[in-house]
Amino acid sequence: MVQKVWFITGASRGLGLDMARAALRHGDKVVATARNAKGLVERFGEHKDLVALDMDVTNQQGITNAVTEAVKHFERIDVLVNNAGYGQMGRFETVSSRAIERQFAVNVFGVMDVTREVLPLMRKQKSGHIFNVSSIGGARGYAGSSVYCASKFTLEGWSEGLADELESFGIKVTIVEPGFFRTDFLDASSVSYGDIDIPVYADSNAEHKSMFDEISHAQAGDPAKLGDALVTLTREENPPMRFAAGSDALEFIGSDFARRLLELAQWSKLTCSTDISQ
Ligand SMILES: NC(=O)c1ccc[n+]([C@@H]2O[C@H](COP(=O)([O-])OP(=O)(O)OC[C@H]3O[C@@H](n4cnc5c(N)ncnc54)[C@H](OP(=O)(O)O)[C@@H]3O)[C@@H](O)[C@H]2O)c1
Repeated sequence: MVQKVWFITGASRGLGLDMARAALRHGDKVVATARNAKGLVERFGEHKDLVALDMDVTNQQGITNAVTEAVKHFERIDVLVNNAGYGQMGRFETVSSRAIERQFAVNVFGVMDVTREVLPLMRKQKSGHIFNVSSIGGARGYAGSSVYCASKFTLEGWSEGLADELESFGIKVTIVEPGFFRTDFLDASSVSYGDIDIPVYADSNAEHKSMFDEISHAQAGDPAKLGDALVTLTREENPPMRFAAGSDALEFIGSDFARRLLELAQWSKLTCSTDISQ
């Protein structure tokens, strides 16, 4: 089997780190990028199939440099994993515009900027596979996560359109929708809560935070197994447009589809009443 070259964002820890490990385990080459790549070098030591590079997804020059470096090392990029991201939680009114902008800068614009930098190479290769790491929060919005969900919904709509645009170039796009995975995602090093005090939301925000604190580092999803699953998808001729990761994701997304279908059917008469009469 030909070794594939992966380019992974946010590989310092969590899902990104385990995706890097999985790709190496399966014999592929990895460009692991992180805001501080020093830790990655210490973690992996000298590894002939790994290059660790500094890259913040909000820094355009840094993105350009990292992609250039990656191509210098391995000549191609077969798999791009847009994984870097964090969760801006809190009831909408308690989240400032600046905090919303930061959320979109990382979870949306950062992904677009990295992808824009990699696409000319993939088009030239006439092949490539892009994984955009979304969330179950990209399938359904829920209280206390409206801003995070907005970023992931945006990511998903863009990914779907992009997949259509890139099909004729032989480039595939898969949206990954993880449920709860055991990473730092829900701890203070990653998740943020609202930065505006509004007394009426104090209790619900506090409840949300204590619920996440309770499940943090006890989530059921295994990042190593998600890494293996992505490797499996890179070997597929026809990978899915969306990949729900974890049994909780299956349940959450499945029940939402059922709810939406029911609502569509319930209101279908009124829906069709808006057509111009023939
Ligand atoms: N774990 C879950 O339950 C879960 C569920 C659904 C979706 N997700 C999604 O999965 C992805 C990875 O999350 P995770 O669970 O692995 O969380 P994590 O353990 O908190 O890791 C987040 C990663 O993103 C990186 N990152 C954050 N901002 C960045 C930036 N500006 N530039 C470059 N890297 C940046 C972090 O780097 P630093 O180390 O430098 O901070 C870290 O490597 C995210 O997109 C998240 O939304 C996770």
